[in-house]
Amino acid sequence: MYQLLIRMICAIAFMGLTISVSADTAVNSPGDQTITLKKPPKILAEWYKPANKRQVWLHTMFRLRREILAMNDYSEKGKQAELEKWSQKFIKDYKSIAEMVPQWQDYLDLDKLDDLESAVKNHEYSSISTILKKTSKSCMHCHDDYQTVATLMFRSPVFNERIISEGFSGEKITYDEIMVQLSKSVNRINIAIKDGYYSDAHELIEPLEQQLEHLSTSCGDCHQEDEVPVERIMGASQSLLPELAELLELKEQRPAGGKLGEFAVKVCAKCHSIHRLSSDLKFIFD
Ligand code: HEC
Ligand code: HEC
Ligand code: HEC
Repeated sequence: MYQLLIRMICAIAFMGLTISVSADTAVNSPGDQTITLKKPPKILAEWYKPANKRQVWLHTMFRLRREILAMNDYSEKGKQAELEKWSQKFIKDYKSIAEMVPQWQDYLDLDKLDDLESAVKNHEYSSISTILKKTSKSCMHCHDDYQTVATLMFRSPVFNERIISEGFSGEKITYDEIMVQLSKSVNRINIAIKDGYYSDAHELIEPLEQQLEHLSTSCGDCHQEDEVPVERIMGASQSLLPELAELLELKEQRPAGGKLGEFAVKVCAKCHSIHRLSSDLKFIFD
């Protein structure tokens, strides 16, 4: 739990989220701190898959950013027709935020839309960027409160109960279960190396390879179009484990320990940094 918290804090700091951290004196352990994250209104889910055919919310956001850029660029160049076109698109998309999520109405600065419309109409090009800067503050307020959590909730894969079906042994197991197996295998090899039981360590390599092979059959569920990330991780294990086996045959304790560490970083930790972290974080919002 403690580790999870540390990872969460790192992740949250990494993602640049504004968090409120308060030292609560009423808590049993005096060092305890709490992190408060806001959960978006349930209705937001309707603008994402699977409730929706498309990622409507996200694409509205991408359009808003593009529209602001277009308006800034065209106002600098004084291109009236384009400015009118992009400002109308922007106004429509900006208003659609509260149509999609009425609870978020208060984040919007709708008055600025009138200012924008009249600046465009009256060819007041130099005031456009100032108006847009002010409008953008409303974007940031909402992003500070909800962006990271929404990305995790609606666009990050979950793994905990995911079934890994057609593995080496044909049995059905979950990610949670295979992770426990992998962790035991790696730790048993580690213990055996530390205590000088090199042939025991050597014998444990093959089952570990099989567990990883089993795990790798699940990657394609989501990575069918881009196999490079999977190759990188699984390829590392295919070269590092035979190297480890060789060092164990030579009874080279320190180099074998080092090789196992390298394997844990390049195979386990690399995948965890992307998938376990987002999976753990997502889990706390369910
Ligand atoms: C009321 C809330 C709210 C407002 C206002 C808002 N956004 Fe967003 N925005 C979000 C949420 C929630 C996400 C996260 C969506 C996701 O990751 O799927 C997001 C994500 C984005 C992204 C995607 C970032 C990325 O690269 O992944 C962009 C771009 C964006 N918003 C632009 C804007 C702009 C520009 C404005 C203002 C004109 C704006 N947003 C106003 C809630 C808001
Ligand atoms: C898909 C890439 C991936 C790879 C490769 C991977 N893991 Fe994991 N691991 C995960 C995910 C995702 C979770 C979180 C599962 C969940 O949501 O419960 C996890 C969780 C764990 C956990 C925590 C299990 C629990 O129940 O709390 C352990 C321990 C673990 N992994 C060990 C390992 C070891 C050891 C290796 C390397 C031999 C490894 N993992 C390789 C993705 C991966
Ligand atoms: C449930 C769907 C899903 C499964 C299963 C899955 N991935 Fe991913 N993976 C993704 C998505 C989506 C991304 C893109 C980043 C993100 O949004 O988390 C990604 C990104 C990654 C990345 C980082 C991208 C990069 O280019 O380095 C790595 C590495 C990776 N996956 C490895 C694996 C491996 C290895 C497995 C199997 C053991 C696996 N993934 C299984 C969905 C999945």
